[in-house]
Amino acid sequence: MITTTEPTSLTAKPGAPPSPTAPSSVKVDATPTIQPRRAVQAMPEYHPPLNGRDALRLDFNENTHAPSPKVREALSTLTLEGLTVYPERAPVEAVVAEALGLQPAQVLLTNAVDEAIHLVCFTYLEEGDEALFATPSFFMYDVNIGAMGATAVRIQADESLVFPHRRLLEAITPKTKLIILVSPNNPTGAVMTRAQIHEIAAAARHAVVMVDEAYFHFFGETVMDDVANGTGPANIIVARTFSKAYGLANLRVGLLAGPSVLIDPIRKASSPYNVNGVALLAVSACVSDTDYLDWYVAQIREGRARIERTLDNMKVPRWPSQANFVLFRVGPKHKDLVAAMRARGVLVRDRSSDPGLAGYVRITVGIADQIDTAIAALRDSFASIQWTPADGATPDPELEGAREYE
Ligand SMILES: Cc1ncc(COP(=O)(O)O)c(C=O)c1O
Repeated sequence: MITTTEPTSLTAKPGAPPSPTAPSSVKVDATPTIQPRRAVQAMPEYHPPLNGRDALRLDFNENTHAPSPKVREALSTLTLEGLTVYPERAPVEAVVAEALGLQPAQVLLTNAVDEAIHLVCFTYLEEGDEALFATPSFFMYDVNIGAMGATAVRIQADESLVFPHRRLLEAITPKTKLIILVSPNNPTGAVMTRAQIHEIAAAARHAVVMVDEAYFHFFGETVMDDVANGTGPANIIVARTFSKAYGLANLRVGLLAGPSVLIDPIRKASSPYNVNGVALLAVSACVSDTDYLDWYVAQIREGRARIERTLDNMKVPRWPSQANFVLFRVGPKHKDLVAAMRARGVLVRDRSSDPGLAGYVRITVGIADQIDTAIAALRDSFASIQWTPADGATPDPELEGAREYE
């Protein structure tokens, strides 16, 4: 219900700035007692370690180089006057839809996948609903499910870190309203097959199944074609980002793609101005630049194989990855390794606070010369902390049972 009240007085002169010395008859209480919603009080917080990143950034799975040169060309056409105009999302949605073989009504551009996750949860989750996902995984699912007052049902992978497909299927209940599948998964690099995704979606027709394909380009397999062709279960929505392969993490842009019957309500719930005009311009310039994408993806695949070989030669346990990062187990010396890498100018991410990953570290894969630097730093760092394969055989015992996300 919307109610309106008429203003009681309109004393300010048009155009006059408010006087800072204007007397006020309202007493200000310095300690307001207003409480945020219970769900917001209870939801977990995400504090990514963003400070002090002036080094080789192999810690956040971003593109480590630069976006397509077409982005620079497009941005050079920006004018100051252009910045005064509200952004128009629809024409760029049409361009992106065409690039993906979709209808414009099947695509919603978002303020990166972070907002896409928020919008899916905001649109589909009621208090008391259940939302399923496998862990360890990306933290923003927890944050957004929690913010809606829904219950996050986490299916923990075993030591293999393979997607726990059977157990996730068994966890579906009539209360399940959302299932989030991530392929490739962050921070494990593990993937799912199309058959697994279809089986889950078919078993939960009463739920939305969001497939997070943030790292799709480095893997190459997708269910986007099911959306395009209307094949497979009709309750699947795909999320993609421009932060990874496309190199636009700073502009914050991503997308949701799915049947219009599922996307329409999300569009209704979104701000019409959620993606800024600079990001929209950049996206139209680079979405179809396959020369650039092919080059970058080839760099990453080659670099990934080199990092994997280096870890294997040092007998560091590591997990197979189809993304632009590799997860490995250092064991109790995980903090020393991260510090030793930092001292050599290379940032890597300690994943020890993720469930089941005590003593694990993740390295993002960059382009060839960055891989040279990373490999030299890895060799030096493992030597400097006097690491032996026996260290990698155990997780960090101090962290066992005390796992929390950072
Ligand atoms: C699996 C996964 N999904 C989504 C995101 C969010 O990407 P963005 O919000 O930059 O589009 C990330 C970021 O690291 C991720 O790892």
